[in-house]
Amino acid sequence: MTDEKSTPSRARRPRPIVAIDGPAGAGKSTVAREVAVALGYVLVDTGALYRAIALGAHLRKTPRDDRHAIESLAEELVASGALEMHARAGQTPTLVLDGVARTDELRTPDISQGASVVSRYPGVRAALLELQRSFGRQGGVVLEGRDIGTVVFPDAEVKFFLTATDERRAHRRHAELVERGTESRFEDVLREVRERDERDAARDIAPMRAAEDAVVLDSSERTIAEVVAVICDAARQCERGV
Ligand code: DC
Repeated sequence: MTDEKSTPSRARRPRPIVAIDGPAGAGKSTVAREVAVALGYVLVDTGALYRAIALGAHLRKTPRDDRHAIESLAEELVASGALEMHARAGQTPTLVLDGVARTDELRTPDISQGASVVSRYPGVRAALLELQRSFGRQGGVVLEGRDIGTVVFPDAEVKFFLTATDERRAHRRHAELVERGTESRFEDVLREVRERDERDAARDIAPMRAAEDAVVLDSSERTIAEVVAVICDAARQCERGV
């Protein structure tokens, strides 16, 4: 019998599950997208699911510090199908909430902090766990998040944990916000990135950390192309059964 917490045995799938975990701004999203395109794998952005819970709470005026209300909301959004992720091979996934495709709304600084807050609640994580697993079981998938290699797919064949210095990560986030036309000061972004990482790493349940069998890569010392090449090589070796 398999329950939520049990570790599925490391299955041999024809194409691997690629887990890319790490803190905000380490370059995970870009790397995961490029890896998925290069390999023709399905891409799953698990952070977008937590962001959608924060956005759903905001739209319904549910206070994000009301743990029980947020947990019920997460369960309801998943069970009713109001929260969906459309993921197809080699494409950026689309997050649909209440029948509307959400993009920029999910990426505001307020929703970033909100996602980090609601992701501490056990009921929220439980509600999203099965959804995340349903995307990946067959393999041929890249999942990016915080706990993919430790909790969602501890049996993933390819596991990377991407890090970078705080300043480098804040620079990336700041550049993203500026590109989207959201006004922000670098110092504020740096503080928010630090706050979010501390909260994500300190929570009791599924804290952000590298799995014991994950390869830790510091992206401040490498280009995105180099990181992508390393991960693609690992996945291809796995496909060949090396
Ligand atoms: O990757 P991101 O910045 O979109 O994630 C937003 C928040 O969601 C992040 O601060 C922590 C949470 N998260 C999580 O707890 N577990 C995941 N697998 C992915 C994200």
